[in-house]
Amino acid sequence: MRKVFFIVGLVLLASIACKHQMVVPGTSTSPIIIANPGTGGGTTSNPSDTVCFNSEVLPLYQSYCASAGCHSAASARSGVVTTDYFNIMKGIRANSPNSSKYYTILFNDMPPRGSPQMTAAQVATIQKWISQGALNTLCMTTTCDSTKTTYSNGISTLFATYCNGCHGVAPGSGNIILGDYTNAKNTGISIKQSFLNDINYAGATAAKNMPPAGKLSSCQILQITKWINNGCPQ
Ligand code: HEC
Repeated sequence: MRKVFFIVGLVLLASIACKHQMVVPGTSTSPIIIANPGTGGGTTSNPSDTVCFNSEVLPLYQSYCASAGCHSAASARSGVVTTDYFNIMKGIRANSPNSSKYYTILFNDMPPRGSPQMTAAQVATIQKWISQGALNTLCMTTTCDSTKTTYSNGISTLFATYCNGCHGVAPGSGNIILGDYTNAKNTGISIKQSFLNDINYAGATAAKNMPPAGKLSSCQILQITKWINNGCPQ
């Protein structure tokens, strides 16, 4: 009898232990922390080139798909919302990019023609993330380098990830275009102070908090601040 209790106890313990590690894509909303993306040992829990959902994939869906009137929580066009992991996973099949609707649609109707499109590299990042299991990965180290402060080295990549879904091409939300150097520079110079206020979430109204989905990291804000204060160098 004692033996039976012992075995039952072991099984219970094992199942509790498993629960902490088990990840059910589409249902898990708490992020999986990746300590050292790009330098990991290639293990299952930290492949050396883990795509970080929170910094590499989420901003793309937020910027390119979740603008007001489209797939934001408030508009939810066609029932699709792309503001967070839980909702994005409704259109993703882990390990299977080609049966993931929110991936394959990027080659067809979405974003709509005339709206800013993701680059091939950005789409490839999403594909890789799905192939790696589409986990809610959050990286502790970031690729942000606050010394990269010219448009071609640092700023354009930042804009492409966080801003260009709304500001990539004309007309651009609020008539702001950041997808090419000339337009970005003209904006950075002509509305210098409000630009800086907006990225610090200290603008005239909450509607001018940029990007709307959430404040950039302090490193990223510093990069843009230096770029603008230096006269928006190319
Ligand atoms: C989801 C869409 C969206 C994203 C992503 C976005 N913006 Fe905007 N942006 C808007 C809208 C809409 C306006 C117009 C807001 C208004 O005037 O009330 C705007 C306006 C602005 C303005 C002018 C505001 C002013 O003071 O007149 C700046 C500057 C700006 N955005 C910068 C950025 C930057 C930089 C990023 C990325 C870090 C970004 N935005 C990302 C939608 C977006």
